[in-house]
Formats: sequence, C-alpha cells, structure tokens
Amino acid sequence: MTTNPSRIRKAIFPIGGTGTRFLPLTLATPKEMIPVVDTPLLHFCVLEAIEAGCEECIFVISNEYNQQTIIENYFSNNGVLERRLRAAGKSEQAEKWRAQLPTPGAVHFVEQKHPLGLGNAIWLSREIIGDESFAVLLPDELLFAKPGCLSSLVSAYQKQKDGFLLAMQQVDQKECHRYGILDIGGGKVGSEPVELHGVIEKPAPENAPSNLAIIGRYILPADVFELLQPSEKVEEGKEDTPLTDALETLIKSNASTCALLFNGERYDCGSKEGFLAATLARSKVMS
Ligand code: G1P
Repeated sequence: MTTNPSRIRKAIFPIGGTGTRFLPLTLATPKEMIPVVDTPLLHFCVLEAIEAGCEECIFVISNEYNQQTIIENYFSNNGVLERRLRAAGKSEQAEKWRAQLPTPGAVHFVEQKHPLGLGNAIWLSREIIGDESFAVLLPDELLFAKPGCLSSLVSAYQKQKDGFLLAMQQVDQKECHRYGILDIGGGKVGSEPVELHGVIEKPAPENAPSNLAIIGRYILPADVFELLQPSEKVEEGKEDTPLTDALETLIKSNASTCALLFNGERYDCGSKEGFLAATLARSKVMS
C-alpha cells in the first residue's frame, strides 16, 4: 500500500503554557480545558482535527497541575458516558459521542519540561511524527466554520503537496503586535492559497508588512524539524528556535509556502475578552 504524502494523519496540540491570564482557575484546571459553555477549548480543536481526517493527537504539555491526567481522563474513551446513553435508549447520541473522541490508542503525550515556546513544542514531537507532513492547532484560537478551518487547509494542501500551508485572517492594524504577520508581496487574497514572501513575529503596527495574521492552524512538512533543533544555550525565559524563524527560512528556500484566508468566526480565547465573546456566541447557537 502506498501512502499519500500529502495526507495529514497527525496533529500536534502545543498546550504547555502556564495559563497565568486565567489564574486562579488554572491552579485546578488546565487553561485548554476551560469550557466554552459545555465543551473545553481543547475539545473544539480536537474535533476540528478529527473532521479534517487526523487520526493521531499529540498533546505537548508542561504537566504542571496534573495536566496529563486531566486531559487523559477526558479523552480516554472509557465507555462510561456511552454506556449510560445506551442504557437510557439513546444509542444515536452514544454513537455521536464516540465519533467526537480520538480513537483509543491514538493519543500521545509529550512533556515540554521547559517553557521554550511553540517551535520547541513542535520539535519535541518529531519522533512521533516521523517524515510526514502534519498539522499544528493552537487551542487558544477557537475557529468556527463549515467545513472547519483545518479541513479547508487539508483540501488545499492535497493540491499543494509539499512545503507549508497556514491559515490567516485580517486583524486590526493595532493588533499586529499580538500575531505572526504575513508578507504576501503583491499577492491577492481570495479563496485560493497565496504565496508568502515573508513573516514577522509580533511586529509593531508600523513595521507590519500587512494586517494578515497567522491564526494558529498550520500544515508543516517534516523538514521543519531540522530548523527547530534546540540551540545549545538558551537564555532563561527566552523562546528557543521560534517557529516563525523556521517559517521564514522555508519561505526563503524553494519550498511552496502559502497561506489560506479563513472566512469563519474566530475567537482569540487567550484573552478574557475573546473567551467571553466565544461563550456568548456559543450560548446563542445553543439557545
Ligand atoms: C502564536 C504564534 C503567532 C500566531 C499566534 C496565533 O503566538 O507565535 O505567530 O499569530 O500564535 O494565535 P502566541 O499567541 O502563542 O504568543
């Protein structure tokens, strides 16, 4: 059997952050398990990955506050809820619940012992990923669309076949300092991916090459691991080998490096305002 090299089977969820913005709650609950009404942030992201065809989930954790146990308990399909639903004659709901969880045995935990940032979290997953292209999803970014953001990226990547593809959205110019900002040269933003000319991490608004921000969904090639190798000496509190630097190196090489506009609803749940907006939007959908 030959495998399709552009099929995206594995998804990394970098969740090693400390969640200081949500203290004191995060003393007891990992930030990504905070629910938006009835579903933890991380579960929305896992659902997006499952919908896009990903079969394996890799959670990169810091394991502060028992993060692994809490997440493992949640996603391990121990059948309790399913049995309860079946006993209540709700077998359709039981099936639905099972489809919302990763397949048993396809969940991995990788510990990021030092807070060395996103690039390092991805690099730590290299053994599980191997030599295939893979997805990265940042659960802080809650994205609602039909099809989901990652599904759209995966479809576009089937045509692109190699290099990287990421999702972007226009943000307020004054918000550019919070995101990786893309340089698309003279390219036109539309329904097709646009070729990238550069990327700058969190620029001051006056230095931003556009207002197109990276919104936490990436398809990356395995070549990126070489570029994310940890440096020998890392300054205390500094991010090691930032992902954006590796993306910039790939852009300057001959690789296809593109971004696709995301047209759905986006909530930046790294901030309390974004989190509240997501909660309101979700409760309206449910009522
Ligand atoms: C990360 C990335 C940044 C991206 C953002 C999306 O930043 O480094 O390029 O735009 O996620 O939310 P963070 O929010 O982790 O500081």
